[in-house]
Amino acid sequence: MTIRTIQMSIFNFEMTKQDWSIYEAEVEWIHRHLAESSEMLTGWLHVPLEDHRALLHRIEDTKQEIHAYADVLVVIGVGGSFLGARAIQDALSPYFTRPTDGIEVIYVGQNMSGSYIDSLLQYLANKSVYVNVISKSGETMEPALAFRVLRQFMEKRYGEEAVDRIIVTTDAENGRLKQIADRIGYRQFTIPADIGGRYSVLTSVGLLPAAVAGVDIRMLMAGARDAALALQDTALERNEAYQYAVLRHVMFERGYRVELLASFEPALCKFHEWWMQLFGESEGKQRKGLFPSTVNYSTDLHAIGQFIQEGSPILFETLLHFKEIENDCKVPYDVRDEDGLNYLSKRTFNEINGLSMNGTALAHAEGGVPVIQLMLPKLDAYHIGYLIYFFMKACAMSASLLGVNPFDQPGVEAYKRKTLELLQTFNNSIKIDSLGMELPKSSVYIRNEY
Ligand code: PA5
Repeated sequence: MTIRTIQMSIFNFEMTKQDWSIYEAEVEWIHRHLAESSEMLTGWLHVPLEDHRALLHRIEDTKQEIHAYADVLVVIGVGGSFLGARAIQDALSPYFTRPTDGIEVIYVGQNMSGSYIDSLLQYLANKSVYVNVISKSGETMEPALAFRVLRQFMEKRYGEEAVDRIIVTTDAENGRLKQIADRIGYRQFTIPADIGGRYSVLTSVGLLPAAVAGVDIRMLMAGARDAALALQDTALERNEAYQYAVLRHVMFERGYRVELLASFEPALCKFHEWWMQLFGESEGKQRKGLFPSTVNYSTDLHAIGQFIQEGSPILFETLLHFKEIENDCKVPYDVRDEDGLNYLSKRTFNEINGLSMNGTALAHAEGGVPVIQLMLPKLDAYHIGYLIYFFMKACAMSASLLGVNPFDQPGVEAYKRKTLELLQTFNNSIKIDSLGMELPKSSVYIRNEY
């Protein structure tokens, strides 16, 4: 019998053998189509199976250098160019300290808050800094603006040495960032042309910041490699990623509109955000797709638990659970027992947390909410690597079942274009209204006044 790395169970949702069998042929066809397509951005499918020793060496050498000369690595990026690295870092770092083999890694260029970047500059004032600017297109507004600021900061601080302290991760050929990097001579890491932003976490995009933060990237890639091997199976009955994709699709077909990813470890909050972008940008097209939302339990049970249990029946829940978490705390025995908790004094917090997951699954299932449970053995680099690949593979299948392209993001491009248009108008406009600018004449924006 094969031991599955991810154990999947379903509660309160009926899937007969026949329901599954309807999808067998389609899943197999999509699998082959994705594997063989040379037009789609499917390079990530093979990344963990390739020989990436040279890249890992280069990343580890760069990490040693950064550790030797810097207190902080500032990573500039947005969307797929930062969410994965931050997710891995947060999931695998201790809560209040840093891993022994890591230095501080801070993210900027993911928002346009002046306050955020101003505070960052103040924070960096007495620190030794390296910068890693990451952008596949090399043209995205948020990271480009942040890089302009940080580049000048570095040049002012380090003079000629700044060039050695700035590392660029971008496309091999295209984009303004690539041109700047070539002209100035910044050190470069390449994002493969056939890998899109949100599928790029297992390339230098995610690996360099994660390594600097102290993550064991070899274990991460070992997990991803095992996932890539296990999930090459075209048979739906043996491929959990495809089973998860089919379940999501059937949920959508049966009228559910929201998938709520829930986990029980606060360290996974940023991982949730990576997952949310992966599924949201891959599927939300042509007026279709599940809205990906996330909660962290037990915290959010006291905020949104009521709605989940008894509110509009639009959602199903995916519970993500790791059986073993590195550190734990025993509930102490207290002779006073004023709080009446001595009955738990032989238990640990993680045990109680685990039990609360079962309680949540049962209660929500009783409340009529379908629950998919994904269980992994341990929260560590290996299993995070495995899970990342699992979700990417499931996502590509799930979007394909919906009939949308998993790898483009026309809606995001539309936002980027509109913002650029507005900024250009803003620059030339004299009249500033309460929205902060005069809107272009072509704008379809409709404003209703009371
Ligand atoms: O998944 C995607 O492709 C996007 O989310 C991009 O990662 C994001 O828009 C940033 O783009 P870029 O890396 O080109 O700056």
